[in-house]
Amino acid sequence: MVETIQWVDGAVVMIDQTRLPLEESYETCRTYEEVAAAIRDMIIRGAPAIGVAAAMGVALGALQAEGPDLDARMETVCSTLAATRPTAVNLFWAIDRMRRLYGSLAGRPVAEIQRTLVEEALRIREEDIAICRAIGRNGAELVPAGKTVLTHCNAGALATAGYGTALGVIRAAVESGKNVDVFADETRPFLQGARLTVWELQQDSIPVTLITDNMAGHFLKSGRIGCVVVGADRIAANGDVANKVGTYSVAVLAKENGVPFYVAAPISTLDLTLESGDKIPIEQRAAAEVTHVFGHAVAPEGTAVENPAFDVTPARYVAAIITEKGVARAPYEESLRKLAG
Ligand code: MRU
Repeated sequence: MVETIQWVDGAVVMIDQTRLPLEESYETCRTYEEVAAAIRDMIIRGAPAIGVAAAMGVALGALQAEGPDLDARMETVCSTLAATRPTAVNLFWAIDRMRRLYGSLAGRPVAEIQRTLVEEALRIREEDIAICRAIGRNGAELVPAGKTVLTHCNAGALATAGYGTALGVIRAAVESGKNVDVFADETRPFLQGARLTVWELQQDSIPVTLITDNMAGHFLKSGRIGCVVVGADRIAANGDVANKVGTYSVAVLAKENGVPFYVAAPISTLDLTLESGDKIPIEQRAAAEVTHVFGHAVAPEGTAVENPAFDVTPARYVAAIITEKGVARAPYEESLRKLAG
């Protein structure tokens, strides 16, 4: 399985997801500022992977610390990392976990604080892989055998520390002996489906077919798709789900055609402080992602552009939310709180 992010000799090494699939190259970040830039520029992306990167970024920030005012330094490190991308709550969850640990170490020798923060970041990475495997185990039985699974964006090993959430469910279904194949939406504008999901599934020899986003309705109507499985960037208390833009359209089309729409995500993607998805901040990205494809203009110069990177799927379209602690179904206000403990 591909290594998305690793801690190697006091540095963070990530597979560069802006270059896949044409080039398999690795980016080494030696400072927290470099980690922040890698998250912002989507060298690493996907909610859980961003969380792991941020935790490692906090650890790097502590290692970079010189002089007496470690507290002020750590504040800057955490706020810099938190300002990279607004929608995936895993980013803030990981930074908070590291910040709380740092707070609990007040008065300890700097070397001990640094070592403990590095260990915690590595633990977050290891836990993420275990969590994805548990999500896979819990979701595998929902995947109908002998059918196609439709997915949007990339919620795979590349979007996590390994194994994946939505693709973890598919992997686990395949590992349990089910005969399934995958339809991957290309996922305009950043093409995570075409570039990353197709590449990742090919590495595992899981049969995958690429479709453009506007073909999803056609295939959902055809009877070929057994279920849709996607990941999430933030899930509100009522079960509304923020995920890659285009997910909402797929969910509505799935419901219209009687195809179950499943969301696979770790508990750290729940934001139970938000009553509904209306409150989820939606990242707006650069116009050039829409007007250009691989650096080539596909629209007239000066074209007005909107580029929300995520949309919110209302809970009524979500057949179930698959987590590492079990499968939640409506009413989500109750089931999610119960799972989150
Ligand atoms: O903009 P991205 O590529 O970070 O968006 C990623 C997604 O929307 C994923 O579906 C989501 O983060 C879940 S990843 C397990």
